Amino acid sequence: MRGLKGKVAIVAGAAPANIGGATAIRLAEEGMLVVAADLNEAAAQSIVDQILASGGTAVAGGFDITDEASYKGLIDFTVERFGRLDGLFNVAADLSPDTFGRDHDVTSVPLDVWQHTIDVTLTGYMHGIRHALPIMIERGGGSIINTMSSAVWAGETEHVAYQTAKSGLVGLTRHTASLGGKKGVRCNLLSPGVILTRAALANTTEEFRNDILASVRSPRLGDPDDLAAMVAFLFSDDASYVNGQSLLVDGGANFT
Ligand SMILES: NC(=O)c1ccc[n+]([C@@H]2O[C@H](COP(=O)([O-])OP(=O)(O)OC[C@H]3O[C@@H](n4cnc5c(N)ncnc54)[C@H](O)[C@@H]3O)[C@@H](O)[C@H]2O)c1
Repeated sequence: MRGLKGKVAIVAGAAPANIGGATAIRLAEEGMLVVAADLNEAAAQSIVDQILASGGTAVAGGFDITDEASYKGLIDFTVERFGRLDGLFNVAADLSPDTFGRDHDVTSVPLDVWQHTIDVTLTGYMHGIRHALPIMIERGGGSIINTMSSAVWAGETEHVAYQTAKSGLVGLTRHTASLGGKKGVRCNLLSPGVILTRAALANTTEEFRNDILASVRSPRLGDPDDLAAMVAFLFSDDASYVNGQSLLVDGGANFT
């Protein structure tokens, strides 16, 4: 991809064998200087170790996306360490059994699950944009990506808090694209379909995966590297006229 070498990216939600982790590795392969960040700093560090072993440049950052001061601290750390910020990939989510597993339908979702899901997936993403955008505008350019889900387009009958929080990212993305666009900062929305992360492989049955495969136009299910490739494109100069868009990387799933 053009225009990535030497630029600086934060991947906010990077752990082994997940979408953020694969993306951090891909961006480093493209020559970007990467801050791999996660609530689980040890997980982010293991991504960094992998990047360093391959000759790339990366540092790990621990942060809590629900805490504005923590996200600001991560961004400040990045600029202090690398002198600039060009790409921000908001990809964190709480898909734990305690949160996602209790996120049922609108008649029964516990209010603590509802609130925490919005805090992580919507307000948390806003925290990052709020502090990254002025830095990018001052330098005259940048690219921000928010991660949604094809579950929203499908209108699943469970995970109401998740779908609601993710839906809010449409407005946040379009607003940010308008605010930053004339000043060279683009903001786009990425919707993965079912992606076989390590957790997805562990938590789904073969029968479920076969059902999903039957609804997908492609001959296989998605891999974290499929999303990493799209992020690399959206951060690159090749995507300089792509702004405010919602991009689905879901193998052409029929349910969208
Ligand atoms: N895997 C899929 O099939 C799929 C499908 C649709 C959408 N998505 C979306 O893609 C993104 C990545 O998904 P994934 O499958 O790689 O998920 P994942 O759970 O493996 O990764 C999310 C990361 O966010 C981190 N995180 C959780 N709470 C945090 C907090 N408070 N502060 C900072 N980090 C926190 C987790 O530690 C984890 O490493 C998510 O936004 C998810 O909603 C994934």
